[in-house]
Amino acid sequence: MPVLKNISTLYTCRDEGSQTDVHPIQNGAVAWSAGTIEWIGQESDLPDKYQKEEWIDAGGKMVIPGLVDCHTHLCFGGWRADEFEMRIQGRSYLEIAKAGGGILSTVKATRAASEDELYEKASGLLKEIQKQGVTAIECKSGYGLSLEDELKQLRVYKRLSEESNVHMVSTFLGAHTIPPEFKENRKDYINLVIKEMIPAVAEENLAEFCDIFVEESAFTIEEARAIFEAGKKHGLTPKLHADQLSSGGGAELAAEVGAVSADHLEQISDEGIKQMAEKGVVGVTLPLASLYTQQPYLNCRILIDGGVEVAVATDFNPGSAPTFDLPLAMMLTCNHGRLTPAEVLKGATMYAAKAINRDEKIGSIERGKSADFLIIDAENVNKWMYHYRGSRLEFGFLKGNRFN
Ligand code: NIG
Ligand code: FE
Repeated sequence: MPVLKNISTLYTCRDEGSQTDVHPIQNGAVAWSAGTIEWIGQESDLPDKYQKEEWIDAGGKMVIPGLVDCHTHLCFGGWRADEFEMRIQGRSYLEIAKAGGGILSTVKATRAASEDELYEKASGLLKEIQKQGVTAIECKSGYGLSLEDELKQLRVYKRLSEESNVHMVSTFLGAHTIPPEFKENRKDYINLVIKEMIPAVAEENLAEFCDIFVEESAFTIEEARAIFEAGKKHGLTPKLHADQLSSGGGAELAAEVGAVSADHLEQISDEGIKQMAEKGVVGVTLPLASLYTQQPYLNCRILIDGGVEVAVATDFNPGSAPTFDLPLAMMLTCNHGRLTPAEVLKGATMYAAKAINRDEKIGSIERGKSADFLIIDAENVNKWMYHYRGSRLEFGFLKGNRFN
């Protein structure tokens, strides 16, 4: 029964209260057994039964829950550094996509790669991601866009979840864009998603969520409604890429279909905020996509003021967000998203866990939850984000096991 002591501030981040309430404990301690937290509180109150246990020194540093990256596209073939250069030279993300680049160029590379090749690549990336303190991750398909290639990506995630200790959840994103062979008959592609892909994904138990890129250049509200309907019939919970490049009623659709989260939201309407708040849909901000596509950032303050909980994630993918630096996404959410460091901390832990329906198990340092926490070399959360130097992870625990 290990005990972690000598913690300057232990940010528990339990759900109670608002986004600013991270419920810090000064001079804290935490005890766990078999991967589950048993006790937390002030070190001076540590019960006798833990006094004799082996203890680990946090060195007077701060401790936070393991970070949760609730929106990534982890498995893909190739990279797109050429597009990065083109965007710097002035071509927009949409222009590049229309010229055959963008998502479709990654689809080509992903189709050409074998499951083993994709597995090796994603597995290497996942190890690097964990090193910065990410203990839970959501991973989407969406670069296969054929029955076999979508299943191939999702099988990679299944293998990773069996072989890695990191908590993983998978999302089917067959409706990411229309693949080239269906360019002239999008209805047939949507039928394929509904009639073949969703049933096959459910049959093999390969995903828990169904995501759709709802956007002028991708799928309409009506198309998305039909796909979500089919997904729900097969037990897949809706999630959306919504209102990123244009305000198209994506947030309203998220509320209507009972989505667990709506992500991006840079162009969200006032009505969308109201409806998401009413239905308890988590808003996920993805500031790294704004950074790399030179698009406006989401002002998260208006969501919080409207009663929406805001999670922070990377959107890691080879095009619009080719970095998996979640602490950087948090810092950008402070500076551009107008949230305080405490608010982004809750957004990358507790609310991110909610955005993937895992808040019963992870996202906060509480009795009964998975023993996932990080020892961060910073005085407090304000100083961590202000004097930004990456994750500053000294070491961490995942399911009670030490890493780094
Ligand atoms: O979340 N918005 C759509 N999909 C991804 C971009 C994927 C890509 O550019 O490959 C996103 O930003
Ligand atoms: Fe995305």
